[in-house]
Amino acid sequence: MSSILRQHAEEQFASELEELIKQDKNVKPQNWQLSPQAVVTYLVGGKLSNGFEITPKYIGSRRLMEIAVATLTTDRALLLYGLPGTAKSWVSEHIAAAIAGDSTMVVQGTAGTGEEAVRYGWNYARLLSAGPVIDAIVETPVMRAMKDGKIVRVEELTRISSDVQDTLITILSEKTLPIPELNTEVQAVKGFNLIATANNRDKGVNELSSALKRRFNTVILPVPSSMDEEIAIVQQRVSGFSKAMELPIERPILEEIQRIVTIFRELRAGVSIDGKAKLKSPSGTLSTAEAISVMNSGLSLAYHFGDGSLKADDIASGVIGAVIKDPVQDKIVWQEYLETVVKQRDGWKDIYRACRDHV
Ligand SMILES: Nc1ncnc2c1ncn2[C@@H]1O[C@H](COP(=O)(O)OP(=O)(O)O)[C@@H](O)[C@H]1O
Ligand SMILES: [Mg+2]
Repeated sequence: MSSILRQHAEEQFASELEELIKQDKNVKPQNWQLSPQAVVTYLVGGKLSNGFEITPKYIGSRRLMEIAVATLTTDRALLLYGLPGTAKSWVSEHIAAAIAGDSTMVVQGTAGTGEEAVRYGWNYARLLSAGPVIDAIVETPVMRAMKDGKIVRVEELTRISSDVQDTLITILSEKTLPIPELNTEVQAVKGFNLIATANNRDKGVNELSSALKRRFNTVILPVPSSMDEEIAIVQQRVSGFSKAMELPIERPILEEIQRIVTIFRELRAGVSIDGKAKLKSPSGTLSTAEAISVMNSGLSLAYHFGDGSLKADDIASGVIGAVIKDPVQDKIVWQEYLETVVKQRDGWKDIYRACRDHV
């Protein structure tokens, strides 16, 4: 097993990608290593004609993935939009891995992301000694992706200030990156495109200008529509984690996943599963990603400090941490939920006690 803490998607799923490339009989857009159909198979999983099994990466609507991948064959860029934890970054990494075999070209958007992180920067030592020459340019992932005909990812696009965001307009519409200091430009090679992600729950966002918005097709990634779907997502990621951390998980953990997902979905929806109890929703998003973390911390607690089998007590602190983001308001919401729903539910005595003792 590799000692790298987190492998890139194209490394982790190298054997799947290799097999897909071998079996792919459909037409590939220029500089894509796979056809759009094969990219979607990589994303949603499936069985190849020779019986080779492709694991699902994205669990949810296949159509959404088709729309996302189809967009990248056009002259429009792709914007993945949605609540935190709806797999925007995850999907963008896997799409880049499947199309270009390289998911490493990323610009992380923050309030401090400057133009030099999007277009290019200067190596000042070189600039002072040699003047403005091509060697003095520090390439960004955007510039490299344009040169190589690959996919560049921009994470959290709406956190970037509006003027810096707008430097993408020329890149996306003209497919060139001008370097006025050298009186030259970088022209994008076929295969180049951009995937951006943005959150609709973030504070301090900078809405895209309409000029930039027109360069994107937006795909909204939804919160998992059903309980079963959400359980499947958590289960898949948790088993991956326990394998990576070499945690031996003997006892079936599905039951605890079901309980966590139930709690999260009830609090998100503001109503109990049976529809009987109206609930207040806490301030946090209670995303699927958080459910995954709660499970993973629980497993780690059970393995290192318990007898190896997951107990209610191991997940209680994680659940409470996810629900109570505002120490005053959310605490009231949580206690009401504990008393009206958790306490009354058959077979939930252990988790009720564990949570009550924690507060
Ligand atoms: N529909 C889904 N299918 C597969 N995994 C999902 C899904 N929704 C959430 N996840 C998991 O949730 C985690 C968080 O996703 P992430 O991409 O970081 O969220 P975002 O960028 O939307 O905030 C990922 O590890 C991903 O595996
Ligand atoms: Mg993200």
